Amino acid sequence: MSRPDLCGSRDIIESCRVHNQSTGCDTQAQILVLKESDIDDLCDLQARVFAAIQNPALYYPETRERLLQSIEQRGLTIAAYVEGRMIAFRSVFYPGEDASNLGRDIGMADPHQLRRVAHLQRTCVAPEFRGNKLQVRMTGYAIERIRQAGTARYLFSTVAPGNYASIGDKFSNDMSIVRLLRKYETFYRYVFFADISAPLTIDPATTTPIGAMDIDAQCARLASDALYVGHNQSRSQGGNVIHYARALRRFP
Ligand SMILES: CC(C)(COP(=O)(O)OP(=O)(O)OC[C@H]1O[C@@H](n2cnc3c(N)ncnc32)[C@H](O)[C@@H]1OP(=O)(O)O)[C@@H](O)C(=O)NCCC(=O)NCCS
Repeated sequence: MSRPDLCGSRDIIESCRVHNQSTGCDTQAQILVLKESDIDDLCDLQARVFAAIQNPALYYPETRERLLQSIEQRGLTIAAYVEGRMIAFRSVFYPGEDASNLGRDIGMADPHQLRRVAHLQRTCVAPEFRGNKLQVRMTGYAIERIRQAGTARYLFSTVAPGNYASIGDKFSNDMSIVRLLRKYETFYRYVFFADISAPLTIDPATTTPIGAMDIDAQCARLASDALYVGHNQSRSQGGNVIHYARALRRFP
């Protein structure tokens, strides 16, 4: 659905040029914060993106109810529009003390800490607008809003080991892999973490590269020492490689 008047009535975070791979042309996009009345755009884009995904292990669709909660009641959602049509979104969810709070996956039990958790929940970019770094930009804006509003301190996100673009998004926004777990039925997911008040630093001398699809070796590395985190990735002939190293202090 196209809503040509939408951007005129909203605070625009950024207006930028994006390349449309279908038409081969550059066009103007507006990045803004969503309101609950935008929920249909969000659901339509997720359905379109999910229908085009070739490997369903990479994306587990979100319910309409959770997407709605992630707009204003319990979160924040940033989106990009071109000519009144949503082309990308990044949602953030505040899980509070819910059982699903990813803080529990790293042993967080203090209710005060759990209430200061934000999940970087979902991102979708329309296939023809991929490659414009929209995910990294929207995530950066979302984290900046969280920091300014003081609504959370601990950021978490789950990402499939084969999702190169989303892993890159987290590393670009200073998050680290702290766990690799079986989540969402039988699918493995990295658990990414950042403390926005106290960023992690690592000892580069301890860096070990491990193939992203070598689940057992990565689980063993993370289990061998509570200070080990994944902090970077690279591409090699054999596929994507995650770089693990020791953090200089415990987290969170
Ligand atoms: C994951 C996703 C949000 C990233 O989209 P994006 O912001 O356009 O990705 P980027 O522009 O940051 O590109 C990231 C990398 O993917 C590569 N890439 C993947 N597909 C591409 C495409 N069709 N066109 C251009 N680049 C592509 C880019 O080359 C880039 O590599 P680099 O970092 O080495 O330069 C998008 O692919 C998507 O919607 N996927 C389906 C849903 C999903 O998996 N969401 C994430 C989990 S919630």
